[in-house]
Amino acid sequence: MRTPSTRRSFLADTGRFAAASLLAGHALPNVHTGGSDAIRIALIGCGGRGAGAAANALSVPGADVRLHAVADVFADKPAAAVDALKEQFAGMVDAPADRQFTGFDGYRHAMDTLRPGDIVILTTPPAFRWVHYAYAIDKGLNVFMEKPVTVDGPSSRRMLALNEKAKQKNLKVGVGLMSRHNHGMQELHKRIAGGEIGELVLLRGYRMHAPAAFFRSLKKPDGISDLMYQIQRFHSFLWASGGNFSDFNIHIIDHLCWMKGGFPVRAQGLGGRHYRETNEGLWVDQNFDSYSVEYTFADGSRMFFDGRCMPDTKILYGSYAHGTKGCAVVSASGDCGLPSSLHRGGDFSAASRTWISEVPPAEQDPYQNEWNVLLEAIVHDRAHNEVDDGIKTSLVTALGRMAAHTGQEITYDEILQSEFEFAPDVDKLTLDSPAPVLADAEGRYPVPMPGMKKLREY
Ligand SMILES: NC(=O)c1ccc[n+]([C@@H]2O[C@H](COP(=O)([O-])OP(=O)(O)OC[C@H]3O[C@@H](n4cnc5c(N)ncnc54)[C@H](O)[C@@H]3O)[C@@H](O)[C@H]2O)c1
Repeated sequence: MRTPSTRRSFLADTGRFAAASLLAGHALPNVHTGGSDAIRIALIGCGGRGAGAAANALSVPGADVRLHAVADVFADKPAAAVDALKEQFAGMVDAPADRQFTGFDGYRHAMDTLRPGDIVILTTPPAFRWVHYAYAIDKGLNVFMEKPVTVDGPSSRRMLALNEKAKQKNLKVGVGLMSRHNHGMQELHKRIAGGEIGELVLLRGYRMHAPAAFFRSLKKPDGISDLMYQIQRFHSFLWASGGNFSDFNIHIIDHLCWMKGGFPVRAQGLGGRHYRETNEGLWVDQNFDSYSVEYTFADGSRMFFDGRCMPDTKILYGSYAHGTKGCAVVSASGDCGLPSSLHRGGDFSAASRTWISEVPPAEQDPYQNEWNVLLEAIVHDRAHNEVDDGIKTSLVTALGRMAAHTGQEITYDEILQSEFEFAPDVDKLTLDSPAPVLADAEGRYPVPMPGMKKLREY
């Protein structure tokens, strides 16, 4: 059997014109490998981001790729995703009904249709990431996986071990922490590392807005099992996603750690839930509606993160860095919004600005940039594996969440070595399995109780 790298070398040779010219940024001659030698892509998790990631994959300029198979636990999702992608990418979507899979083992069937060196996209809720990554590595597949990549200590240790195997097999793996592919932030990172604002002493991140996505959930309705309700509304359930703290806040925590050049060693935090019952009903999910976390780095500097999901409160969504000589707007708005800028002293005004990022329009989409880089690494057989940093960022995010949920100060090493795993048997789930967290008689799921539960989050 051909190894991933020999298959890639073959593709790099036969697809030389397409690959080389696309990746050097030149216009493509009208030549590509076509047919059966196009890189096949399988999509596991056919929701919003899965469709988005597949669209990015099919949009890499000149890349000879085909969407070949799809899988989802919900029966209506695969065909819907394929039909929508076909409208936009006619001729690049070749995933007929017999390559559309459902159920908890659908991922295996979809990956079984690929050849070593093809690509699988993992965009389910993160609870399933290690299960799907393990199979992808066995099959010798290159991978794009969404964030978070883990939600607790045991799944982080498992993913770190798995990733060693992926590196040994020379697999190329991208992680959807797209800030790192924001070209304005890349230039900011260089300038901060070059000392333009001195030593970083304080980082600040905020994600404060009205309730979004599945931040909160009403009591499970009839007609869906508890397990499927929890998977469908994964931001509401800690086992599935790490809750809204992990799912929503990871991007800002990630890029602030990147700017700092390391990960915090400990955290303490607080949070609470003000509005459990509103005129819409009783919200039964596991999230707090406000969080404030103080992270400490090994050199004693701090990173503060505030998160809130509450209607009619101040919206604050961006990130900042303060150094001994100046300060920086890291994300001007949202998870990684342009432009980034540097300023003298501690004053963020335009008058104190010493630099502002300028990114050509074609490079402004970090979701596309991360795919261009992944495909380039695959076609040219260049080392590319973003998983170790993805795991560390996921764990640091979980560290802040756990500190707030338990009301304790927790170190990075403590959470990494923690034995508490939200859903240890997630690889054995079937459609009939009981849900990993059970509701009480009124349909309410257990919530964190800071101070009362210290070693686990509920
Ligand atoms: N990088 C970003 O900015 C960004 C943005 C949105 C979402 N995401 C991440 O992408 C992931 C998916 O988020 P989404 O918004 O697309 O959610 P979604 O609910 O729209 O899609 C997830 C899909 O996965 C399916 N699924 C769940 N468990 C599965 C399993 N075991 N096997 C197969 N399919 C399964 C669901 O049925 C659903 O269709 C999450 O990890 C989320 O954090 C990242």
